[in-house]
Amino acid sequence: VCWLSPEQTAGKQKPYMYTQGQAVLNRSFFPCFDTPSVKFTYSATVKVPEGFTAVMSATTWEKQKDNTFVFKMSQPIPSYLIALVVGDIVSADVGPRSRVWAEPCLIEAAKKEYDGVIEEFLVVGEKLFGPYVWGRYDILFMPPSFPFGGMENPCLTFVTPCLLAGDRSLVDVIIHEISHSWFGNLVTNATWGEFWLNEGFTMYAQRRISTEVYGLPYTCLEAATGRALLRQHMDATGEDHPLNKLRVVIEPGVNPDDTYNETPYEKGYCFVSYLAHLVGDQSKFDAFLQAYVNRFKFQSITADDTLGFFLEYFPELKEKGVDSIPGFEFDRWLNTPGWPPYLPDLSPGQQLMRPADELAELWAADGLNMEAIEAVDITGWRTYQLVYFLDQVLQKSPLPEGNVKRLSTMYPKISKAQNAELRLRWCQIVLKNNLEAEYSKVKDFLHSQGKQKYTLPLYRAMWGGSEATRALAMETFSATAPQLHVNVQNYVKKILGLGGAEA
Ligand code: BES
Ligand code: ZN
Repeated sequence: VCWLSPEQTAGKQKPYMYTQGQAVLNRSFFPCFDTPSVKFTYSATVKVPEGFTAVMSATTWEKQKDNTFVFKMSQPIPSYLIALVVGDIVSADVGPRSRVWAEPCLIEAAKKEYDGVIEEFLVVGEKLFGPYVWGRYDILFMPPSFPFGGMENPCLTFVTPCLLAGDRSLVDVIIHEISHSWFGNLVTNATWGEFWLNEGFTMYAQRRISTEVYGLPYTCLEAATGRALLRQHMDATGEDHPLNKLRVVIEPGVNPDDTYNETPYEKGYCFVSYLAHLVGDQSKFDAFLQAYVNRFKFQSITADDTLGFFLEYFPELKEKGVDSIPGFEFDRWLNTPGWPPYLPDLSPGQQLMRPADELAELWAADGLNMEAIEAVDITGWRTYQLVYFLDQVLQKSPLPEGNVKRLSTMYPKISKAQNAELRLRWCQIVLKNNLEAEYSKVKDFLHSQGKQKYTLPLYRAMWGGSEATRALAMETFSATAPQLHVNVQNYVKKILGLGGAEA
């Protein structure tokens, strides 16, 4: 349960409290069987001080007298999906079954970001995966220290305020959380050791919805940035790391929160894509996904249930023995760490990726070809094209002396970006290239938000760098630690050798 002082909110006027259940934190909120294998309905009565509003992940809620709020969740859910926020928050409608919640100072921006766009994602999701059973789909913009991009609390997704980019460019996070309405919240992993069942299927569902709404090229581009994250993660941890399996062994000493890394997401996505590839026909695979949700809704299952149902649903594939094709055995997918044996074809995104690849090549050269560089106009590029470009530059870094400084001046759209995904990449490039003149940007970014996936990579980069970047890490952490979620604090401590929890 996180208790924030007024300074830790966007408005800086009133305190705020929120809960984050996943993976195993709700046991400190209420007594429960804190395992995703048990599902139950709940109701709650919450009395708050004058001037505050309470919201929960519930199908109905009602305000009674004396600032008392009564909530009911009428569908069975696992413990980790119960969530509560009490704060100075207000709401605005953005669709027929959706509203945004935020502190008063952010509500305009929140409404503007998603007004009129949520319903289409829900409709496409229902068309692909079956009925949306949760009634409302609302979005709550959290204080800046919220450790995740999004958290799929049923009826009420929690998101980082970093999504308020002004141009809807980070809406993939919303599509992701909506996708959990079927994968994760309806069909749930029975243990955190098979977290990929939640996240891998959700990544697949997210990209199916994205393909329907934004087309295949854009979706492949977004998936390529995901693949780059998986590459970085495996390089950093070592491919053979035991957490780089889809089925992780959670034994004493392994914290389920440690499974929150790119493997269940992106390797999981590859495995689901591989299953679709075995089927060979998108509409048949979509029909399978819908049947799968229908078969296991409101249950908690293991990968054996999923794969058993897959083979039962496609008897001709079972007969062919697709579960034991050498090199692609289902058993190997689940139990062998390392790079996925099959990668979905992302070439439909080439039209968007190629210009970015070529531009990154130009910037990595000794003796810059400024004529060729100036001939490329990036002003019309989408955020994810820029992200992809920056990931390529990062991969090639350190660049020859002076290049990054030049790049910074040439593209203020990148080096002075407000968009969090661009800021993260820019900070990583600054650190990898020892661009001391811009170290303050790393510090500013870490002061402005506390998302785990932004915070840890930057501390790892600082700690792996020079004496100057190590000092920057220590200085930034001592100033920001009280603002960070306790899990994130512990992971940073571990990186900085300050004796935090297992990372
Ligand atoms: N359920 C996760 C967040 C989570 C995972 C919380 C593990 C606690 C433990 C959520 O659905 C998620 O995956 N968020 C991503 C979104 C991204 C993949 C689009 C995030 O926060 O980065
Ligand atoms: Zn997720």
